[in-house]
Amino acid sequence: RPGRVILSGIQPTGIPHLGNYLGALSNWVKLQKSAEPEDKLLFSIVGWHALTLPQDPASLLAARNDMLAVLLAIGIDPNRSILFHQDHNPHHTELSWILSCIAPMGKLRRMTTWKSRLAAARNSSSEDEVDESMLNAGLFMYPVLQAADVLVYKATHVPVGDDQQQHIELTRDLADIFNRTFKGTSPLFPLPTYVNTPSKRILSLKDPTSKMSKSSPDVQSRILLTDIASQIQSKIRAAVTDSIQGITYDPQGRPGTSNLLTILAACTDSDVTQVAKAYESQGHGTLKRDVAEAVEEFLKGPRAQFNRIRHETTYLEEVARRGAIRAIEHSEVTMMEVKTRLGL
Ligand code: ADP
Ligand code: NA
Repeated sequence: RPGRVILSGIQPTGIPHLGNYLGALSNWVKLQKSAEPEDKLLFSIVGWHALTLPQDPASLLAARNDMLAVLLAIGIDPNRSILFHQDHNPHHTELSWILSCIAPMGKLRRMTTWKSRLAAARNSSSEDEVDESMLNAGLFMYPVLQAADVLVYKATHVPVGDDQQQHIELTRDLADIFNRTFKGTSPLFPLPTYVNTPSKRILSLKDPTSKMSKSSPDVQSRILLTDIASQIQSKIRAAVTDSIQGITYDPQGRPGTSNLLTILAACTDSDVTQVAKAYESQGHGTLKRDVAEAVEEFLKGPRAQFNRIRHETTYLEEVARRGAIRAIEHSEVTMMEVKTRLGL
């Protein structure tokens, strides 16, 4: 079969937590391992997207570097995959503008990500226009930029979480509108396939009814890739569970206990129901001790790599520079074709 072009992106949010790692980033490493030699892999740190929210310039710069170091630390191989900063390639924004000129406003307004932003901004007025004035246009255009990220490399497969499915549908719609409007001899853009990566949803250690998130003010609720053994131990020990005897996997009835089982299974690459069975007659103390050990075992390699790589400024710059060159090599071809069809 023809090689796939697989593209995925992550925001430069600094040091990832265990949820980001198990739910998103570890899938990239698995993809890299399972890909066929003819498959092309592109992994992008999406700095253009980060600008839709207020950013402190010094923190953004540090977060961009840290995310690059994290991806190298967990095993993304810059010789196998094209690993790059999105904002090093101006073709993303160039194609985004072109796509915005064929994107129906109504479709963009129906994006659930936009609607939830609007709902969050909702004030005393019931007029959308008043609420919209509190948001920037970049947030509205976000899915168009994401479509450009994918189409500029003619990506065929986009592995993302379920919350992004609607954005991939929009990407297909925009590709189709472009193909039909600017026909040429054959359709320019392949319609990309949404690849639902079976993602493990890791919950907050302090409130297991919500997901582990960097935005929670309680730092005890999440484990960071950089946490050392003693921090992992104390966070797991303090994790909220229940007072039911024995251990069972019951995400609805026992979210805290089940979350620990999910983490243990994920960190030991085993099946959660089998792990649960093994702890049936154990107490939370034993479970927590073993979870902390498994997390430490799972994180210690990447953590050591990260602590080393993050200070290798010259190496990081070189990886980013080479990544940008390789990314631009691909998108340049697409942009030439796009412009020819447009009459530019
Ligand atoms: P956060 O919620 O910490 O702000 P982001 O929204 O930046 O995380 O998500 C970055 C990536 O990590 C996304 O692909 C998202 O689906 C994944 N992710 C975030 N939190 C979790 C979690 N608790 N469990 C599993 N995956 C997660
Ligand atoms: Na978030």
